[in-house]
Amino acid sequence: MRKKIVAGNWKMNMDYQEGISLFSEVANMVKDEVIGNQLVIVCSPFIHLHSIASLAKDNNNVFVGAQNIHQEEAGAYTGEISAKQARSTGAEYVILGHSERRAYFGESDELLAKKVNGALAHGLSPIFCIGETKEERESGQFFEVIKSQLEKGVFHLSASDFSKVVLAYEPVWAIGTGLTASPEQAQEVHAFIRKEIAAKYGAAVADDTSILYGGSCNPKNAPDLFSQTDIDGGLIGGASLKSRDFTDIVKVFN
Ligand code: PGA
Repeated sequence: MRKKIVAGNWKMNMDYQEGISLFSEVANMVKDEVIGNQLVIVCSPFIHLHSIASLAKDNNNVFVGAQNIHQEEAGAYTGEISAKQARSTGAEYVILGHSERRAYFGESDELLAKKVNGALAHGLSPIFCIGETKEERESGQFFEVIKSQLEKGVFHLSASDFSKVVLAYEPVWAIGTGLTASPEQAQEVHAFIRKEIAAKYGAAVADDTSILYGGSCNPKNAPDLFSQTDIDGGLIGGASLKSRDFTDIVKVFN
């Protein structure tokens, strides 16, 4: 049965001390709220990874993820972090293909496919983000955009590698804007994504893939979104910075 996942994306927030206390609070608050096949993942800046992964060690339901890795194995790439380095902190996931990386850092589908391969080669599960811009939504091209992001970013993988990938549908127009896709709009895209996975890898793999919704998800709108058949949780930005809000989103599955 596919996992229900609530993942936090702190983005470039929290200094070292703030991050440690936020994580400690969250881990403590969610520890009795995570049920059955549910996971909580916190994706922090690199500076927190080792410390919070150590704090998460004794907690079977809370995992740690990075927000990016470099596509090369190692070498003269000043300021970058490799998949192996990120994994060595204890992190088990990495967000790849976030629209902020695509838009502000020019990350192409081809580059992202390399990062996906690097992550998997070093034992990191990608949380791979896809989603359309406002213009692509309004012009009705969004299904094509999403299909192409899937094909170029993750559909080159074997079925066994693909089974380690978590997908996140994040309409760019909903990220950090306070605008949320309606549960129906999100469900429509999630069902489309699952159908594409089934066409590529078969129904069993599609059925086992967790597809998260992201974009201004909060404790108020999460219950309606997460009750949709093909929405298996959320990738949470702003609301992941407040332990109470994040925990309330985690509790939606109870
Ligand atoms: P948001 O961010 O919840 O602040 O909209 C979501 C994301 O970018 O992953």
